Amino acid sequence: MSKEARYDQTFLAGNSKATLLVRNIGQLCTLDTGESMGPRRKEEMTQLGIFTEAAMVVSGDEIAATGPESELMARLFPDGLPEDLPVVDAAGRSVIPGFVDPHTHTVFGKTRQDEYERRIKGETYLEIAAAGGGIHSSVRDLRGRSEEELVELATVRLREMLAQGTTTVEIKSGYGLTLADELKMLRAARTAAESVGVRSVRTCLAAHEIPHEYKDKRRDYVNLVTDEILVQVKAEGLAQRCDVFCEPTVFDLEETLIILTRARDLGLSLTVHADELASFGGAMLAARLGANSADHLIKIDEQGRQALAASNTVAVMLPGTVFSLGLKNYAPGRGMIDQGCALALASDFNPGSCPINSMPLVMAIACTQMRLLPSESLVASTLNAAWALGLNDEVGSLATGKKADFLILDGDDYRLIPYRAGHNPVESVFLGGCKVC
Ligand code: NIG
Ligand code: FE
Repeated sequence: MSKEARYDQTFLAGNSKATLLVRNIGQLCTLDTGESMGPRRKEEMTQLGIFTEAAMVVSGDEIAATGPESELMARLFPDGLPEDLPVVDAAGRSVIPGFVDPHTHTVFGKTRQDEYERRIKGETYLEIAAAGGGIHSSVRDLRGRSEEELVELATVRLREMLAQGTTTVEIKSGYGLTLADELKMLRAARTAAESVGVRSVRTCLAAHEIPHEYKDKRRDYVNLVTDEILVQVKAEGLAQRCDVFCEPTVFDLEETLIILTRARDLGLSLTVHADELASFGGAMLAARLGANSADHLIKIDEQGRQALAASNTVAVMLPGTVFSLGLKNYAPGRGMIDQGCALALASDFNPGSCPINSMPLVMAIACTQMRLLPSESLVASTLNAAWALGLNDEVGSLATGKKADFLILDGDDYRLIPYRAGHNPVESVFLGGCKVC
């Protein structure tokens, strides 16, 4: 029996109670286009499972039913609406799943607008990093801050993201680079997400950079990551995933393999910062290890593309970073969708290369600069992003049985999201069936 039919039966038998009805939805994008063994690819990325003149029924924190309003009413409430059922009138607007942002560095201290200005004047990201800026400057700053301070800063940022529709967010460590500071970051991420109420997945990115104190003993730092940091992170349940910044100037392929293999043995799922600055084989390695995602991919080569297309490793693209760095070359999003890669979008929100934390803006950049269709950009920011985090059974679409995380937009067409770049299209945000913004 299908999930829908089971819900209908329990409803009609009175065992399961509707707790919220959203009616008068002009355009309901469920993204529920049937069972799928993996993330959406090719034409599937244009299919949004749309109902017009629609309604949605929530039971507890889950989606119970979606469909044309008249049909749904007749089927679930043949004797009329229960008097005590809360009803939200969407006034003809669009309803979509909450955004899933699968790659952020939301926990950090100071912002780095000085570097932004230096880049406009002509310095490159790598030149600034070599001169003491970049990740190292955020590391120095973060080590001097208390956990409480980091919680406070991250809380404000997560509230801002929630108001722009992000209901599930991935948060990385990686500005601590000592056992104590990495744990401090991950605890701060957990506390901040819990206080805002947003769903979070945390990723240990202790391999974000070789800390200065290990400059001449890289292997010792790799050992610290594998033998102490990852072990403790896992023991305290502070992260679900492990990431490595795999680039010629940071961690090479061998070091990346050592760290990710250890993480996998500890039961963490995997992701890689891959092929961002150079074509280096990071995406291929991610596919080979069965990583959930390979992220960035600006310089990915044909072999890497084919490896991703043939795997369930999601290609996560971060066009806000290219935009914020003022670069010209975006990751080959259009070509990789056509080639059969499962594509997701993320903000990469961080103080250096991408201060953007708005998924609507990321969608806009993806559409105009990578030539994604608005429908593809929406699937990439919800369902495929949920696959990238391994949360596809819980979030990413408005399918029966999934969490009732959804957005009522201020317009009646999802294409207005990227079209109105710079505008926040989110009128209200529901998390687990409760209005939070
Ligand atoms: O994803 N690529 C590595 N890390 C970040 C940049 C972090 C920083 O500059 O602070 C990124 O772009
Ligand atoms: Fe990143």
